[in-house]
Amino acid sequence: MAGKHTGGSPEFDLSDVVDLGRYPIDLPQSPAFERLLADLRRDLAEDGCAILPGFANAQGVAALVKEAEQLSCFAHLSTSRTNAYFSKDDPSLPFEHPVRQFYDRSNGFIPADRFGPNSPLRRLYEAAEFMPFIRAALEEPEHRFFRYDDPLADVIINMVEEGEGFPWHFDTNTYTVTLAIQNPEEGGVFEYAPNLRSARDENFGGVARVLAGQNPQVRSIDLQPGDLQIFRGRHSLHRVTAMRGARRRYVGIFSFVETKGMCGGVERTRQLYGRVLPRHHQRARLRSDGLKD
Ligand SMILES: [Fe+2]
Repeated sequence: MAGKHTGGSPEFDLSDVVDLGRYPIDLPQSPAFERLLADLRRDLAEDGCAILPGFANAQGVAALVKEAEQLSCFAHLSTSRTNAYFSKDDPSLPFEHPVRQFYDRSNGFIPADRFGPNSPLRRLYEAAEFMPFIRAALEEPEHRFFRYDDPLADVIINMVEEGEGFPWHFDTNTYTVTLAIQNPEEGGVFEYAPNLRSARDENFGGVARVLAGQNPQVRSIDLQPGDLQIFRGRHSLHRVTAMRGARRRYVGIFSFVETKGMCGGVERTRQLYGRVLPRHHQRARLRSDGLKD
C-alpha cells in the first residue's frame, strides 16, 4: 500500500487520511508531484494562497470530524476585543489608525496539547511526507522551514459556533496550512486581502481600506471539508465571516515557521488559549522580523 508513514506510529498509513491518488505527496520524484508543485507555486506567487480540494479523503474527513467532536469540550472559548495585530491599543496614534480598530472576536481553539500521538490530525502534521511537501510548495530552503515549536499551537483545531467568526487579522507565523474539517450550515467564509503588507512595510493605509470595506482586492473562498489551504497569513489580512446554524465549523491548522524554536507571543497566546507556558516567555525574543505581533 502506498504512503507508509516513516515516522511516529508504524500502523499509521498516510492514505487513510490523504487522497494520495490525486495528491502523490508520497512520491516526490514523480511527474505528477512536479505538476502539483508547479500549480501550487503559481497560485502562491500570484496571491499568497493555494487550495488543494479534497486533499483529505472521505475516510480521513470522517476521522477528523470524530476527533474534533470528541475534543470539542477542551476548546478554549474566548471573547475579546482585538485589533488586526492582536496588540494593545496605542493612544499615541490617530483614532482612525488600524492599530486602534478593535473588533469582537469570539471563537474557540482546541489546543495542540490535546492532540496526542494517535491523533489523525497530529499524525498528518508530523508525517514524514507532509512538511517536505509543504516546504517544496512554498519554495523554502530546509534551513528556513520548521514546524511551529509551540506546545499549545503547533497543530490545533479552530472551532466556530453560531454567530461567531474571526475578525480581520494577520497571523503571527509566516505560513499557515489549514484543513477544512466541517462546515457550518451558513457563513464561515474565508476572506483575504493578498500580500497586503511585507516585512518592510506595514501598509497601514491599505489595511485601513480593508477594515473600512473599501478594498476591491479582497477575495473569498468557499472551502469544503477535506480541502487543504496553504496561506501566507503573516502578510495577507484575513478573516472568517460570522456563521449561522447549529453545526460547528472545524478547521485544522498546521503551522510552519522560518526560525527553529519559534513560538507564539505571550499576550497573543493568553488571548487565544487562556494560558501561557514557560516556553512562551523563554522564546519571546526569537522573533525574526520587526512586524507587530
Ligand atoms: Fe489567521
